[in-house]
Amino acid sequence: MKRFLVLNGPNLNLLGEREPEVYGSTTLPEIEGKLRDLARDLGVELDFVQSNHEGVLIDRLQDARNWAAGIVFNPGAYTHTSVALRDTVSAIRIPVVEVHLTNVFRREEFRRHSYLSPVCTGTITGLGWQAYTLALRYLASTLS
Ligand code: DQA
Repeated sequence: MKRFLVLNGPNLNLLGEREPEVYGSTTLPEIEGKLRDLARDLGVELDFVQSNHEGVLIDRLQDARNWAAGIVFNPGAYTHTSVALRDTVSAIRIPVVEVHLTNVFRREEFRRHSYLSPVCTGTITGLGWQAYTLALRYLASTLS
């Protein structure tokens, strides 16, 4: 069975209580529940990791190269700052779909630049939690 990693970066553990007017009221466990339901329908397996630490995200991406068929990745604010995460995504050579709950292009200027997008397979931004399910559907369909 194909296995995918769903990786979430800093502050995404606070979804639901974090600026709900910006990020909505859906919590990370609720998003993971929706992904679990979808994974069952698609016949794939998922691993979930959330970390507030850049090095942990790098370790998990590197580890995933040994087992994951693809990765759904919301890098949070590291999207806009991290050359290290970009280098890791480049290095691991497995499909990574970058997801954002909010439309980063409609927000502050500094969110318009992503270090990750040029090395990701694709990016989904602004569609709320559905970004995650759409990314998983894409990965599962192209890799089956
Ligand atoms: C985010 C957008 C980022 O700019 C922000 O720093 C986040 C969340 C999103 O999902 O919309 O933490 O990645």
